[in-house]
Amino acid sequence: MSNKDSKVVVIGAGVIGLTSALALARQGYPLRVVARDLPEDSDSQAFASPWAGANWCPFRSEATDPRICAWERETFARLSELIPEGLAMKLPARRFAPDEADLLGSWYQDVVHSYRILTPSECPKGALGVAFETLSVNAPVYIRWLADELRKLGVEFERRTLLSLDQAFESFGGVSLVINATGLGAKSLGGVEDPLVEPIRGQTVLIKTDVTDCTMDGSNPSAPAYIIPRPGGEAVCGGSYGTGDWNLSVDPALAKTILERCFKLDPRISSTNSISGIKVLRHNVGLRPSRVGHPRLEAERVIVPSYSLNPHARPPADEKRRVGTVVHAYGVGPAGYQVSWGVAKEVKELVNEHFAKQEGKRAAKL
Ligand SMILES: Cc1cc2nc3c(=O)[nH]c(=O)nc-3n(C[C@H](O)[C@H](O)[C@H](O)COP(=O)(O)OP(=O)(O)OC[C@H]3O[C@@H](n4cnc5c(N)ncnc54)[C@H](O)[C@@H]3O)c2cc1C
Ligand SMILES: *[C@@H]1O[C@H](CO)[C@@H](O)[C@H](O)[C@H]1NC(C)=O
Ligand SMILES: *[C@@H]1O[C@H](CO)[C@@H](O)[C@H](O)[C@H]1NC(C)=O
Repeated sequence: MSNKDSKVVVIGAGVIGLTSALALARQGYPLRVVARDLPEDSDSQAFASPWAGANWCPFRSEATDPRICAWERETFARLSELIPEGLAMKLPARRFAPDEADLLGSWYQDVVHSYRILTPSECPKGALGVAFETLSVNAPVYIRWLADELRKLGVEFERRTLLSLDQAFESFGGVSLVINATGLGAKSLGGVEDPLVEPIRGQTVLIKTDVTDCTMDGSNPSAPAYIIPRPGGEAVCGGSYGTGDWNLSVDPALAKTILERCFKLDPRISSTNSISGIKVLRHNVGLRPSRVGHPRLEAERVIVPSYSLNPHARPPADEKRRVGTVVHAYGVGPAGYQVSWGVAKEVKELVNEHFAKQEGKRAAKL
């Protein structure tokens, strides 16, 4: 197959778009990344990826979905390979939950290291807990690294806000396959607007600290708290989960509550015995690109141009409409980093299938 026939456009330069692009570029696909926000825009609240913790710690909602567990398993292995270069760091973690079910039946105990059940005296009153060794990345640093790896392979980035599916298929000189990794953008991009996409607002406080222990306290669902150390002598303190909340402003009262809860979890984050001794670097708000039910990862056949922005438009009589494929990869919500390599692997498989089918058709015609 000639290179020209296997060109791919990836929409979105968050961790999902970038990781998928890297998996494809490493396999030799010529591709372009088209996105409104690029990895160097680490202050942009218009995408989620700069704002993540970002550690690997499964959520309750995913435990019942073997497909998501497989993505997470794959990602853990791939991120572990980046520990020696300092892109990921080993993270001793404690996790507290209100009940057994919330600990996820420990499906991941053979994925992480040194998994053990904590005694009641090691947990907040009334809570259950486990300890294990996992990992984290420094989100803005990590996505810039992904972009650098792509550039080294000759991949170009185009900063552009796409309004519709058609524009994606027309870019990069015209392609037959588009990867849709638009996160929350999937809600409004013309063509197949997805009403199930919704934000989960997360407010955090980034602090300077030598603490390298991670604590995730979900034992009181109305008062979640976590400390996620990351490479660079920093930690992300959270958190909040505001489903459907698009507000990008920092709530100062919530910031104070977050610091108080985190100080209680691990007083070593302060140099004094109060929250005033915590070295705050900045306050952040990010919107997790979630999707009611589950993320969307599948291939869809579409007709382009679709004239989706104008339902009354008719294609000019002489215009050739053709079939294209969109591989949707969005809606990963609070866990984009920890599923990223597993998602990228499946995206790659879907892309391979698409081009194999196309090749088969072409061969049949000859
Ligand atoms: C406070 C907080 C804490 C988190 N903690 C963790 C954690 O510990 N572990 C973890 O795994 N995850 C965590 N996450 C979640 C993680 O950040 C997200 O799941 C992940 O970043 C989603 O990546 P994405 O690539 O799907 O979307 P995004 O990062 O939102 O990227 C979307 C991309 O699509 C582009 N785009 C959208 N619409 C268009 C358009 N019309 N035209 C062109 N481009 C478009 C955007 O510009 C951007 O480039 C956290 C998130 C928050 C907010
Ligand atoms: C990506 O998916 C979303 C949700 O289905 C949709 O709104 C958008 O049009 C899609 N974009 C492309 C280019 O297929
Ligand atoms: C957004 O949050 C800020 C800070 O909490 C608050 O002052 C403001 O009123 C909120 N805006 C909306 C539209 O709710």
